[in-house]
Amino acid sequence: MSRLFVPHEMLVRYDQAGPRYTSYPTAPQWTEAFAAPELRAEIERTNAEADPPPLALYTHIPFCESMCYYCGCNIIISGDTDHADPYAAHLFREAEWYQALMAAGREVVQWHIGGGSPTFMRPDQLDRLLSGFRERFNFAADAEVSMEVDPRITSTDHLDVLKANGFTRVSMGIQDFDHEVQKTVNRIQPYEMTRDFMEQCRARGFNELNVDLIYGLPKQTPESFIPTVEKIISLDPARIALFNYAHVPWMRPFQRRFDEADIPGGDAKVTILTNTIEQFTEAGYRYIGMDHFAKPDDELSLAQEDHTLHRNFMGYTTKANTDLYGIGVSSISEVGDCYAQNTRKLSAYTRTVEAGEWPTMRGILLTDDDKLRKRVISDLLVNLVVDKPTVEADFGIEFDAYFADALEQLKEPADDALIEIDDTSLRVTELGRVFIRNLAMPFDAYLGEQADGAKPMYSRTV
Ligand SMILES: C[S@@+](CC[C@H](N)C(=O)[O-])C[C@H]1O[C@@H](n2cnc3c(N)ncnc32)[C@H](O)[C@@H]1O
Ligand code: SF4
Repeated sequence: MSRLFVPHEMLVRYDQAGPRYTSYPTAPQWTEAFAAPELRAEIERTNAEADPPPLALYTHIPFCESMCYYCGCNIIISGDTDHADPYAAHLFREAEWYQALMAAGREVVQWHIGGGSPTFMRPDQLDRLLSGFRERFNFAADAEVSMEVDPRITSTDHLDVLKANGFTRVSMGIQDFDHEVQKTVNRIQPYEMTRDFMEQCRARGFNELNVDLIYGLPKQTPESFIPTVEKIISLDPARIALFNYAHVPWMRPFQRRFDEADIPGGDAKVTILTNTIEQFTEAGYRYIGMDHFAKPDDELSLAQEDHTLHRNFMGYTTKANTDLYGIGVSSISEVGDCYAQNTRKLSAYTRTVEAGEWPTMRGILLTDDDKLRKRVISDLLVNLVVDKPTVEADFGIEFDAYFADALEQLKEPADDALIEIDDTSLRVTELGRVFIRNLAMPFDAYLGEQADGAKPMYSRTV
């Protein structure tokens, strides 16, 4: 695989605030007018279809033992694992509400357990949780099941529980191996600990190991991040997520625990990103787009080549269009033509579920225009190609006329060789993958609506 060279000037020019498009319409468009009755109606409608799509499940475990100061996730710090038992009982209750509405025989083809840190739970608690879900849902024999694990708190007993419950993939937080950075963000996780943990995973047959890194953390420099990337390459993970640090101290006050002046500035950050993309692609990883790298023989890379890759809230997947049921505090569902999110506060979640009510907080039912734009954005982001005649046939539109404005906005990226546009298709180039959010934004009908001077809603695209 050849090294991908990303011009520094271009990264600066295309760096702007923009959505990550884990959904379209994006979360700021969702409202409280769409709540539990609306979600239930959509679940009933989809289960009454002659051939409902397969199911994906997401389960959120919000607890962590200690606070990483950069963290932007919805978490609760606790030293008491007993908290996990009542929470698991609430998850089961919610699961049963979904299950009661499900058509007989519907199979779960994908299940992801995220957090927080699911291995905050003791191995015996985790075992009860996993087997409880297995009893309540009908899992396909080849279901893709995965969990987010924090190597600092995941024991070999946890790994044994995962193996016994059919897990083959774990996704682990690393972020940065530099000791200064680790001290500054309150996450001491030496390289040796991570290496030994990965060996323990492999010894149990977990060959599909994903790692998370963040660029833009305090005290990171272009020089300091190079050895981190070299160590990651030597650890040989199947997939790498390289997240752009989202600094949102007004929402996550712990991000004030370090000095803002230590956060690398635009130029240094862009250099870290360019270096890292070049190091990973030179080592043979494929840049899938949207923060993700995978080995060329990984099923994500193969699916992207065949244009059969998909993406939902849990990330990239090879599982074809599924309905996603999100269970637990803050979880997101994507069912039929809607998105819905559970309440984000644990106290409100607990109260609502104990009262026998669905904890749905907000959502949206897609219009025909939303569905069309969602499809185009998804084709671009995931498979890097939009086939105009197929979209025209599926939606009864004339592509160039309908999207005249978007095509006009794409002229500059086309001149920069980020995208190739002809009469029948739009194709994202190798370099265009780095700027994929910028290429999707012209198709977003809501972006222009934000009032001038309003609080920023999105992180930077670069
Ligand atoms: C739920 S955590 C991962 C699992 C586990 N809790 C851990 O930390 O090892 C998911 C990932 O989100 C990423 N993340 C957390 N806060 C972030 C932020 N402010 N900006 C960008 N990425 C962030 C980190 O890479 C983290 O590994
Ligand atoms: S990064 Fe992971 S372990 Fe750290 S606070 Fe966030 S969810 Fe918890």
